[in-house]
Amino acid sequence: MEIETLSILGGRGRQGQDEPVARVDLRMGEVASIVGPTGSGKTEFINDIERFANSNTPSGRRVLVNGSPVPEESIGDPSRNPVALITQHTNFLSDLPVREFLRIHSEIRRGADVASLVRQTVEFANELTGEAIDMESAMTELSGGQTRALLIADAVVIGNSPIILLDEIENAGIHRTRALDLLRRHRKIFVFVTHDPRIALLSDVRVVMRNGAMQKLIPKDARERRVADALSRLDDIILEYRAKIRAGEPLDDTVLGERLTSVLLADGGGR
Ligand SMILES: Nc1ncnc2c1ncn2[C@@H]1O[C@H](COP(=O)(O)OP(=O)(O)O)[C@@H](O)[C@H]1O
Ligand SMILES: [Mg+2]
Repeated sequence: MEIETLSILGGRGRQGQDEPVARVDLRMGEVASIVGPTGSGKTEFINDIERFANSNTPSGRRVLVNGSPVPEESIGDPSRNPVALITQHTNFLSDLPVREFLRIHSEIRRGADVASLVRQTVEFANELTGEAIDMESAMTELSGGQTRALLIADAVVIGNSPIILLDEIENAGIHRTRALDLLRRHRKIFVFVTHDPRIALLSDVRVVMRNGAMQKLIPKDARERRVADALSRLDDIILEYRAKIRAGEPLDDTVLGERLTSVLLADGGGR
């Protein structure tokens, strides 16, 4: 099934109220983030997408692919299901070596080009995480960051899932901006729940949840893009300073002042 659009039609919030947002349309290649306090319905929203809700979940939402409900066959058959959902609890339950595990998964899922798929998957994962993965080490020996990177890489490269959902997976050990760059290159619809405001700002649209309902839809316009750029540069400065402090370097407020000014002046921020 060639996926061009994914639409979520609003249903009801937790108290049965109509959702303020009646419809969300995502096109192939777009990235959406889901934000809102704990208990606001973020996981429920992601799960509705994963199940291709059709007025049959507590929210009463409907999910359409290319404008139509998804046929039952695609939902029941894992090899045809276009969605990969990764949560904090998703894990590889295997103590096989990385190479062997990925080889088996590639064979089941794709059947051809196995060696190349395995290589691409590990390369992709290594771009996401700072700690390179040793193909001969056991899956169970990977660090948290390596495991999360490999889960995402596996879903993208071997699973080849056109729709990838991430529910608050910790981003420790994951290179945040690079992850989104990479995912964009692979042309997926990517929907993620995050507590990291910098990641939320990298998406094309933010869905704001409250009380189990889609409260607001905030598209990323030119103004938001400038804010995101500035915050991202500020964050880079913070990271740079953490590294300096860790390395035992003395700090200098004049140097910091110059760096901050350059961020404020870049991109017409003074207008
Ligand atoms: N639209 C809804 N209708 C009915 N129950 C909902 C709805 N949205 C969320 N819930 C329920 O509210 C609780 C909290 O939602 P959850 O999605 O886990 O929040 P979050 O992931 O934002 O912390 C869950 O028990 C969930 O099933
Ligand atoms: Mg949740």
